[in-house]
Amino acid sequence: MQKTILVIGATGMLGEPVARKLKEDGFKVRVLARDVSKAEKMFDEAFEIVRGDVLDTESLEKAIDGCFGVHINLSGEIEQQGVERVVSVASHKSVKRITYISGTSVFEENTWFPQTRQKYFAEKAIRESGIPYNIFCPTWFMESLPRYVKGNKAFAFGKNASPFHFVAARDYARMVSRSYKHEKAFNRRFFIHGPEGIPFRDALKRYCSVFHPEIKKISTYPYWFARIIAAIKRSKKMRFAVEFMKFFEKAGEGGDPTEANRLLGAPQTTLDQWLKQKKG
Ligand SMILES: NC(=O)c1ccc[n+]([C@@H]2O[C@H](COP(=O)([O-])OP(=O)(O)OC[C@H]3O[C@@H](n4cnc5c(N)ncnc54)[C@H](OP(=O)(O)O)[C@@H]3O)[C@@H](O)[C@H]2O)c1
Repeated sequence: MQKTILVIGATGMLGEPVARKLKEDGFKVRVLARDVSKAEKMFDEAFEIVRGDVLDTESLEKAIDGCFGVHINLSGEIEQQGVERVVSVASHKSVKRITYISGTSVFEENTWFPQTRQKYFAEKAIRESGIPYNIFCPTWFMESLPRYVKGNKAFAFGKNASPFHFVAARDYARMVSRSYKHEKAFNRRFFIHGPEGIPFRDALKRYCSVFHPEIKKISTYPYWFARIIAAIKRSKKMRFAVEFMKFFEKAGEGGDPTEANRLLGAPQTTLDQWLKQKKG
């Protein structure tokens, strides 16, 4: 019988490719969506779409019913609470597997950063649930690069000269889906790193050379200056991006991808290949 996986956050940038890959690999995919019409525009009738919110336990109860697995792709201030709710409902249903997207720098020593703290405690709730799990800790996604271009400017903050092993969402989605089929791949934290280490500014430069050739240089602001601009613009998004980069400059790219690569097959897509595919 086909196994059903509930994908929470399937309308998100990194939830969508996972939902699609699970479907392609033979699972029945149920999508939990706050906004059903948005989900219906993204997914055809091969996907089952149910209305729900992770903060609404009743909707979660219905959505999780009959599912073999639950994949959680949440972001923002509700992430920890949302995961805790999902785990609490899943633990009295017959859920056999939980997968969750965390981050490459989620370690206790980095919990001073609010987003990392949320993920750290979300992971803890999953580990303590008793449900077999796989926690995915990916580094920077190539798909994030467009977020650092606004109009005819591309931005970077601070020094951030260390290389990150940018990964393509497609490779990550394949690894998540594979983990559901792998007998031995459970109760693990998988660090997902792409094939090449590239400093953020260089990756952004390469992205711009393909998609924004008019941008000749990356505007690089020191953190203090970027914070002032974010305050003047009252831009929460910019403020978050600044703090996020500063966090990464300090915390670095953590974890060892060896086990994930061995069990699930290493990500292969290079930045140049990804740019070429995206360009179409
Ligand atoms: N970008 C990177 O390079 C990177 C690297 C490593 C890890 N990550 C992590 O990956 C995670 C997912 O990222 P993303 O870009 O896919 O995030 P995203 O695009 O913001 O997607 C978040 C998803 O959560 C859903 N959601 C939010 N609140 C909800 C609620 N109360 N109930 C049910 N669904 C809710 C959203 O649904 P709506 O459509 O209704 O808003 C959306 O589908 C984040 O935690 C991020 O930290 C990202």
